[in-house]
Amino acid sequence: MREEWLILLHPNNFKLESKTVWSFPDRGSWATHSGKYRGNWSPYVPRNLILRYSNPGEWILDQFMGSGTTLVEAKLLRRNAVGIDINPQAVSISARNLQFQCQSNSKIFMRNGSATELHFIKDNHIDFICTHPPYANIIKYSKGIEGDVSLLGVDEFLAEMKKVAKESFRVLKKGKICAIMIGDIRKHGKVIPLGFRTMECFLQEGFVNKEIIIKEQHNCHSMDYWEKRSNSFLLLAHEYIFVFQRD
Ligand SMILES: C[S@@+](CC[C@H](N)C(=O)[O-])C[C@H]1O[C@@H](n2cnc3c(N)ncnc32)[C@H](O)[C@@H]1O
Repeated sequence: MREEWLILLHPNNFKLESKTVWSFPDRGSWATHSGKYRGNWSPYVPRNLILRYSNPGEWILDQFMGSGTTLVEAKLLRRNAVGIDINPQAVSISARNLQFQCQSNSKIFMRNGSATELHFIKDNHIDFICTHPPYANIIKYSKGIEGDVSLLGVDEFLAEMKKVAKESFRVLKKGKICAIMIGDIRKHGKVIPLGFRTMECFLQEGFVNKEIIIKEQHNCHSMDYWEKRSNSFLLLAHEYIFVFQRD
């Protein structure tokens, strides 16, 4: 028997989240998922969002694709998906992570490009947006790729997120859901509410809040570092999942 037939394709004992606080201490390693891509999200997050807010055969967009966690889940759950990333390396990594066999006839497209400009997607075409942008320049995803928002300070980052929100609104079908995960950051001991400031960008483009979910952060690389050094401020240990609806 070939090795790929032996991989576990779905989590054991999966239960859909029903409250507004989510926590996945075991981040999830079914299919090709692993924690290797810096700052990737636990596959439990897109799995919960996809199952709650889309149907098999519908089109999902992740315009900050990274290692393709959302696309892998879309394939496993029989949704179609479009993934975009500014870094061509992320496109290659995602393509590799999608190389597994399962009973699915999903159509999956990947493209190197910017989430701020989605001209190749028609208006009102996407059924569900499920995405996870960088948290400004907390983790830098390239050494100088033009358009990489992970190289930007807070104000420039938010100006780009306004463009992302505008394009998200344009490509999403009316009444459908756009879910994004983002966390706050700390500078010089003061918290910067990047989450709520990003949320405002989406509200200004016409989205409305459907849910605000708090996700507990586990195994964050910088956590140990700060734990040893900080006695004058609290460690940021949560992120937000903003679930918006396009009216
Ligand atoms: C937090 S990571 C996404 C991780 C992903 N959820 C996963 O599980 O692998 C953010 C991604 O956004 C990408 N990125 C940065 N600027 C971008 C832009 N303007 N358009 C599209 N992708 C961008 C980075 O290259 C990085 O892969």
